[in-house]
Amino acid sequence: MHTLSNNKTWALITGASSGFGEEFARQYAAQGHSLILVARRKDRLEKLAESLRPRHPVEVLVEAVDLSDLESVRQLHRRVQDRGITIDVMINNAGYGLQQGFQDTNLPEALGMVQLDITSLTAVTHLFAADMRNRGRGKILLVASLLAYVSVEGFAVYSAAKAYVLRLGEALHREMRRDGITVTTLCPGISDTGFAEAARMQVSPELKLLMMKPEPVVRAGIRALNHGRMSVVPGLANKIMALFIRATPRSLHQAVFAKVMNPILPNTKKS
Ligand SMILES: NC(=O)c1ccc[n+]([C@@H]2O[C@H](COP(=O)([O-])OP(=O)(O)OC[C@H]3O[C@@H](n4cnc5c(N)ncnc54)[C@H](OP(=O)(O)O)[C@@H]3O)[C@@H](O)[C@H]2O)c1
Repeated sequence: MHTLSNNKTWALITGASSGFGEEFARQYAAQGHSLILVARRKDRLEKLAESLRPRHPVEVLVEAVDLSDLESVRQLHRRVQDRGITIDVMINNAGYGLQQGFQDTNLPEALGMVQLDITSLTAVTHLFAADMRNRGRGKILLVASLLAYVSVEGFAVYSAAKAYVLRLGEALHREMRRDGITVTTLCPGISDTGFAEAARMQVSPELKLLMMKPEPVVRAGIRALNHGRMSVVPGLANKIMALFIRATPRSLHQAVFAKVMNPILPNTKKS
């Protein structure tokens, strides 16, 4: 296997074939980090790598990996180690949601979300954080969601999964500080990426108005990570919504989110 010189800083980005991950790759390459781009769609990763290499004096490696398979996650980690690469920044971003009633979602799809958004994210964090602990430094960004703060009908599994990511990130922020590792959790609101299509979402006009572009979301995440913050909600509208969630009874903010996130909710049965 080709071994690379290691006198550069490396960022590993999961879910780099689209959306936030693609934007993380652009912004880290512009800052001079060499990159390992991870996702399933190799053609998209190659295209991104080819567009970055001539523009920035960095190395860009492509890893086509299905992260929902834990053995593939372990093999990815081993390949990175075998190349002699030490990861300085890990962006744990791959994930997806589904807009569907809990009982209307078939079980493999529901469990697939749990597998990628919770299990794989935990495995990736565990494996690469161990290397960072040995070196006494490193930065980890976990991508959760604004829905980590509110349980939303139609997104039951997804909002529960993202609540896990936020709780994990907050605990690790304190725990790993002792080992010289910064852990920050990014909680974006609805944004203009491949997410809505993958989630088979009906996007209401209100929601469209709230959509952020990936560029400011990613910039806010990188800034928060560099400043050693525990978590960040990007964008003014999302910050206001996070305050609204904290300041109002659950029944109220759950009802508002259910309405905004699900423009065609079936009528609730009266008892
Ligand atoms: N956009 C939003 O509204 C929003 C809001 C809050 C949080 N988020 C979170 O932001 C993160 C990034 O999503 P996005 O908005 O950028 O959506 P996106 O454009 O759909 O990107 C999702 C990325 O995850 C990768 N991925 C999915 N399944 C994978 C698997 N099994 N193995 C490896 N990679 C996989 C996809 O690549 P491949 O398909 O090529 O594998 C893609 O690169 C997710 O965790 C999402 O939950 C998004």
